[in-house]
Amino acid sequence: MLLFKTSPALKKAISQYKSNKKKIGFVPTMGFLHEGHLSLIRAARKENDVVVSSLFVNPLQFGPKEDLKRYPRNFSRDKELLRLEGTDILYAPERADLYPEHFQTSVAVGPLSKVLCGLSRPTHFAGVATVVLKLLNLVQPNILYIGQKDFQQCRVLEQMITDLDLPVLVRRMPIIREKDGLAMSSRNSLLSPRERQEAVYLSRALAETEKAIQLGSRNGSQLKNSMKKALQKAVSGRLDYAEIVDSKTLLPVVTLKPGDRVLAAVAVYFSKTRLIDNVLVKVKS
Ligand code: PAF
Repeated sequence: MLLFKTSPALKKAISQYKSNKKKIGFVPTMGFLHEGHLSLIRAARKENDVVVSSLFVNPLQFGPKEDLKRYPRNFSRDKELLRLEGTDILYAPERADLYPEHFQTSVAVGPLSKVLCGLSRPTHFAGVATVVLKLLNLVQPNILYIGQKDFQQCRVLEQMITDLDLPVLVRRMPIIREKDGLAMSSRNSLLSPRERQEAVYLSRALAETEKAIQLGSRNGSQLKNSMKKALQKAVSGRLDYAEIVDSKTLLPVVTLKPGDRVLAAVAVYFSKTRLIDNVLVKVKS
């Protein structure tokens, strides 16, 4: 595995692959890798000639009061995991490589960035879109692999790619869960033992919602309120949101109709971290 810390070195390697018509799969990460990330690398390995991953804890996507400093890091372990999965290139830049002095551009994706997580993290998705656009320009992948756990991030990036005619396909990959159902996340390592026990209720509330929908519940606000109540009862953390939204627009669904694809999504603030989870449900006819 080649490790590049600067963009000129990365660009040189990419231009060689491109002139040899190699198909490039790209997995951007912020490190502290888990099975969720590794499942993306494996998927990329299967359908590309070259697998590129990036590891960069992107300051632009953290608000001033968020966990940038505390965000878990373990570079040597990550490097080894990526190597073992057959990654060809790891790009792990310093901040100044991606955001040199006088950097001043931001990519704003409209309404999709303003709902769900966007309400409590108003600058987050501009930070994500900006760094991912930069990374896509550097890596020039044929396929971008992203995880459904960050469903809103997937939608924002898909919209950016469509709107800006970026020549890249997106593969949205399934959520990987712990045995008890907790969605894997680098931030799980920041939970106290008690919070870790409670965190399982995010996926349980979502599973109950999915079951209720499949059994015939069609009222969006009733479904949302049941999720809210279940979570408020089970966790000591503060509920940020529990919503039933359209999976394309991310706007609330009032009445679920057969064939609709709806997203049940939740976010909870624990003492040191905020967890999110979701389930995509196709409403049966
Ligand atoms: O999902 C993440 O880890 C990050 O938001 C991403 C896509 C690597 C951009 O920093």
